[in-house]
Amino acid sequence: MPQIKTARGPEFSRIVSVAGHRGSRVVDNEEMCTYIDSSDEWIRQRTGIVERRWAAEEETPLAMAVSAGSKAIGRAGIRPEQIGTLIISTVSHFQQTPSLAVHVARELGLNDPAAWDISAACAGFCYAVGQADAIVRSGLSEHVLVIGVEKLSELTDLKDRGTAFLFADGAGAVVIGPSDEPAIGPTVWGSDGEQASVIDVASWEANAAHPKITMDGRSVFKWATTHIAEKTKEALAAAGLTAGDLDVFIPHQANNRITDSMLRHLGLPDSVVVSRDITHMGNSSAASVPLAMEALLESGEATSGQTALTIGFGAGLVYAGQVVRLP
Ligand SMILES: CC(C)(COP(=O)(O)OP(=O)(O)OC[C@H]1O[C@@H](n2cnc3c(N)ncnc32)[C@H](O)[C@@H]1OP(=O)(O)O)[C@@H](O)C(=O)NCCC(=O)NCCS
Repeated sequence: MPQIKTARGPEFSRIVSVAGHRGSRVVDNEEMCTYIDSSDEWIRQRTGIVERRWAAEEETPLAMAVSAGSKAIGRAGIRPEQIGTLIISTVSHFQQTPSLAVHVARELGLNDPAAWDISAACAGFCYAVGQADAIVRSGLSEHVLVIGVEKLSELTDLKDRGTAFLFADGAGAVVIGPSDEPAIGPTVWGSDGEQASVIDVASWEANAAHPKITMDGRSVFKWATTHIAEKTKEALAAAGLTAGDLDVFIPHQANNRITDSMLRHLGLPDSVVVSRDITHMGNSSAASVPLAMEALLESGEATSGQTALTIGFGAGLVYAGQVVRLP
């Protein structure tokens, strides 16, 4: 029997850089209340959101992904040709095929990269980090570009007072490459298709226009604050760490009340910096974790080399999380 040669890579991978692009239009709660019967006070109290960022017409998912991706490559100090794989997580690309990734790869000037999209909603960025970690460590690519990008304003039903105030537009990107020491813990991930209808976007067939998001907010809230809080603990334990080892917690920016509940469950010390990026951004799904990471680093609340716990969760229902060293 001839022996099949297999790929071998470095022992460890790390996040080398992070960058984002936020939709340019600021939509505050006052404007939101011109679309739905609600109030600034109710939205703040139930979600923590003061304003959200929506993209202008020319800020397409392609444009926002290219903007975030090119900044991430520049910050990594590598050339675009050194990216061997591009993974894009999005639910905002309204074409079954070709993927958004091949268009972004072309615009970024990548050289013959493996390129594909994944559909894992608000968990998509953390799913893709898990994939990228495995790809680098198996030697399939030296550097992987991961981009989470969403234009959820186009998927939002502005007459639905149960969802309209939540969602936002943006892109967040990281470059993942080889590392001399452990810097990405095991990804804890999963799904529950029994709850597929809890957050849904109708099939394209049924709608001449873009389909819109529907959501059973109470079910999502309950699932996130029980099951996902437990999975977040598992991601920490899988990395061999305890709450006292953490510097930063970056949960998916779904809702500040969900974050508060997770904090009670996790028992993190007060010294842990917790992202509240949703307050001025809204929920940008696959873009939310990298955007929150970039914001903490830019504001100086977190610094390079610190240990962060991330968790993404959303429509599917799906979740993924891991411990990472900040770039
Ligand atoms: C969406 C969410 C904020 C709604 O809050 P809620 O407390 O569950 O709201 P309910 O639908 O139970 O309604 C409670 C009350 O608020 C009212 N209400 C609902 N939407 C409202 C709005 N936009 N403005 C003002 N009042 C509203 C309801 O009419 C109801 O009033 P009543 O008590 O007089 O009957 C909440 O369910 C939530 O945060 N869910 C998680 C959603 C999420 O994070 N999704 C993304 C996951 S990736």
